[in-house]
Amino acid sequence: MTIFTRRVLLKTAAAAGLAGIGASTMGRLAGLAAAKPDPVILKTASIQARLMDGAPTRNVLTYGEAGMPPVVRMRKGEPFAAQLINGIDDPTTIHWHGIRVPNRMDGVPFLVQPYVYLGDRFDYAFTPPDAGTFWYHPHCNTLTQMGHGLTGVIVVENPNDPEFDAEVVINLRDWRLGDDGQFIEQFRPRDAAKTGTFGTVRSANWLDQPQYDAPAGGLVRLRAAITDVTRIYAFRVEGAEAAVIALDGNPVPQRFTPDALLFGPGQRLELAIRMPDDEGAIVSLRDVRGTKPKVLATLRAVGGSLRRDLRGLGALEANPVQEVDVAGAKHIALALSATAENVPGDGICGSLGYSFWAINKVPWPGDTPDPTAPLAELKLGKSYVIDMENLTPHAHPIHLHGMSFKLLSSSTRVIEPLISDTYLIQPNEKVQLGFVADNPGDWLLHCHIIEHQKTGMTSYVRVV
Ligand code: C2O
Ligand code: CU
Repeated sequence: MTIFTRRVLLKTAAAAGLAGIGASTMGRLAGLAAAKPDPVILKTASIQARLMDGAPTRNVLTYGEAGMPPVVRMRKGEPFAAQLINGIDDPTTIHWHGIRVPNRMDGVPFLVQPYVYLGDRFDYAFTPPDAGTFWYHPHCNTLTQMGHGLTGVIVVENPNDPEFDAEVVINLRDWRLGDDGQFIEQFRPRDAAKTGTFGTVRSANWLDQPQYDAPAGGLVRLRAAITDVTRIYAFRVEGAEAAVIALDGNPVPQRFTPDALLFGPGQRLELAIRMPDDEGAIVSLRDVRGTKPKVLATLRAVGGSLRRDLRGLGALEANPVQEVDVAGAKHIALALSATAENVPGDGICGSLGYSFWAINKVPWPGDTPDPTAPLAELKLGKSYVIDMENLTPHAHPIHLHGMSFKLLSSSTRVIEPLISDTYLIQPNEKVQLGFVADNPGDWLLHCHIIEHQKTGMTSYVRVV
């Protein structure tokens, strides 16, 4: 038997400033599972925040009044509601990245909902079908709004999950700040045409290398979301045994040790970490990509050892994603390319004024009142395989809204049959993503390097 140290969990959450929002609590207290939950209020605000040494940064955007956007908690299969109140002078929306919501709750302006202007509200309500780690962000003027702070993590709990001794949630992102701590230009066109423009200050939960306490010898569930607009990470854990238990909100078919695991913007990693037995021992989560490895966050072992065993940790329940019928599936060709025409697009929702990228030769900045035709029209309930090919010399985290796909094969590597919503495709890679078109509506498909998305690498599929 293991001891569940709720106290440690709460302490960790408090230390992280992670005031979990219990969406389901009200419903349960009312004793009516089907009752309408009280909405979580997500009000955008422009604040000052200390993101580096020196002066606080002005014009930081968040949901709430201070600090990082809250970790929003939901429960698998239980109704959730949120009210977006726009407190900033820029139209906005909320997209629930990775959660299979009804189309009108998906937060994409023009395609599925109107802009929410300063002082206006929008009610979101849905029941998350899947448990796991997800995140939320605007889908409007995204480079600026996300770049300035509007990215938050979502935890969808499953009461049947195996027991951990602590949970740590980490929001990974950068900031483009000058030496004076103030925002500098959000992107450079020459970088947008390559890897995207990197931040100058890196953070985890808006902090530089935060440290969280966790019980010695205990099992920690670490949830990390890359909410940055550009950066691709390569994860490694040092100082403890660690296993990847879920990726992009879905349990992995086989657990493995993260060894420079490549992960792109929009993706989520869940680790089970077995803390060292000795009090005071430090475990670090690192990004080992590039020449300068970076410690992102650390965990410190506290108390007497709980002597847990990583191998004794039960399996996570699979999410109820329909099995794709590969043999009967229709194929959709999808080629990612660079466009030659460097002409300003006419998007009005934060167009960057350039067109560097294209999907099937069509550049579309997305979020415009006059979308190009859908990439494909899909029949509700039918199986499809996207044959995606990367004709560019850069990696792209390609995200599909509204439906989860299964990785079927890659031309360059052996891949596990993961269920996901975002695939980091490498240069010259061809990959097959299979899914059942079981969610009606218009669903965006785009690169999550936001400069790529906004300069052409966006399309959508229509399910009818
Ligand atoms: Cu993270 Cu179109 O979204
Ligand atoms: Cu891209």
